[in-house]
Amino acid sequence: MPKSKAAAGKKKTKKSASKLSQKLAPSAKPKRRLFTGIKTLFTLDRAFRKAARRVTADDLDRIDGAAFVSENGRIVWVGKEKDLPREFKNAIKSEDLQGAVVLPAFVESHTHLIYAGNRAAEFERRNQGESYQSIAKSGGGILATLIPTREASEKELTAIGQERAERFLKQGVSTIEVKSGYALTAEGEMKMLRAAGAIRRARIVRTFLGAHAIPKEFKSAEAYIDYLLEEALPQLKKEGLACRADIFIEQGYFSKELGKKYLSRFREEGFDLAVHADQLSRCGGAELAVELKARSAEHLIQINDEDIRKLSASEVTCVLLPTADLYMNCAYPPARKLIDQGARVALATDLNPGTSPSSDVALVGVLARIYMKMSLPETIVAYTLGGAYALGLEKELGSISKGKLADFVVLEGEMEELFLEAGRQPVARLYREGERLL
Ligand code: NIG
Ligand code: FE
Repeated sequence: MPKSKAAAGKKKTKKSASKLSQKLAPSAKPKRRLFTGIKTLFTLDRAFRKAARRVTADDLDRIDGAAFVSENGRIVWVGKEKDLPREFKNAIKSEDLQGAVVLPAFVESHTHLIYAGNRAAEFERRNQGESYQSIAKSGGGILATLIPTREASEKELTAIGQERAERFLKQGVSTIEVKSGYALTAEGEMKMLRAAGAIRRARIVRTFLGAHAIPKEFKSAEAYIDYLLEEALPQLKKEGLACRADIFIEQGYFSKELGKKYLSRFREEGFDLAVHADQLSRCGGAELAVELKARSAEHLIQINDEDIRKLSASEVTCVLLPTADLYMNCAYPPARKLIDQGARVALATDLNPGTSPSSDVALVGVLARIYMKMSLPETIVAYTLGGAYALGLEKELGSISKGKLADFVVLEGEMEELFLEAGRQPVARLYREGERLL
């Protein structure tokens, strides 16, 4: 291939020239990257134009023999390599991806990444017949994780979180949502969020989940909610520790009515909203998410046809968490009905010490495909663009579209090998904003 050899030669000289100019004037030139040699690029741009609803294989938007260009971390051109405009050919740093398949990076839109200790014994108890709720009543559950998490220092929590974040990076995830919710004091929750904020490499989106359970210090859910609004909300705002608020709407936790009061206050303060909705029983969480125009409603195991209709007609992204359902040995959410009625769905691990002690991205997709009858294209879109929508980042992430951030994965094999082998996502490389992380 004499043509590409010549181009490579040219690039070399330009590369050293641009290195020099970067040293002389670091911010004077835009940082451009050209990615070539892509056997197949799945941009998902068509899925983006359909707002990630009712996606088909065509919406993966396949380009064979593709290239793209990023500038200061954002996509400025995507197309067939042979159509690369002259202006991009020479004067930029170029990487040959050597015949690989490329897709947008995965977005993990629901985790409880920061917690200390584990609840391995509870898993055994559940398998021997005890229910999650009865274990919680006897001092287990969320309140059991409270003790080691309150005791851990911010630094220790960051170290734990970093280690878990690395596991996601290895699977091609560039963006991880992280919830608080295992300290349940204003100061403790801030510690969790600060710890999450200090995680490096992965992009972290922080969610305040102070309303995860009612700590023993409070006589009622109402009193605890008032405390969070009075003590935690001002601190969160002052330090800018989270941009989203979440609540566990469930029997024995928080009612729909209290959730409405609580989330409305956060909405007034400019927070995006998420709801842990209808996981163990149908408690109005999905309805509340629709009513308050939340970004996402999560779990959704117990929803009925009316909820499905409302969610499908709304802008709420349905975040489905099948490893939690596997570990809880319960039903899976009605993904087929949601998708067929036009709902937008995301998939995530729900990594937490109780209901989903797993950060296995591939397993989530395998369960979605087997038990929720999601097609592979639906699964891929749910774990990329769907996740981006759930986090309100659809204009930044989830597809390789002009103007968006250049977060992408280079696969080891074919697209069809994704979400196939539990425990292994065949990702060779991960890039965040045009820079290689993996
Ligand atoms: O998403 N449902 C509430 N929260 C978590 C479980 C937390 C725990 O058991 O520690 C969930 O499943
Ligand atoms: Fe959760």
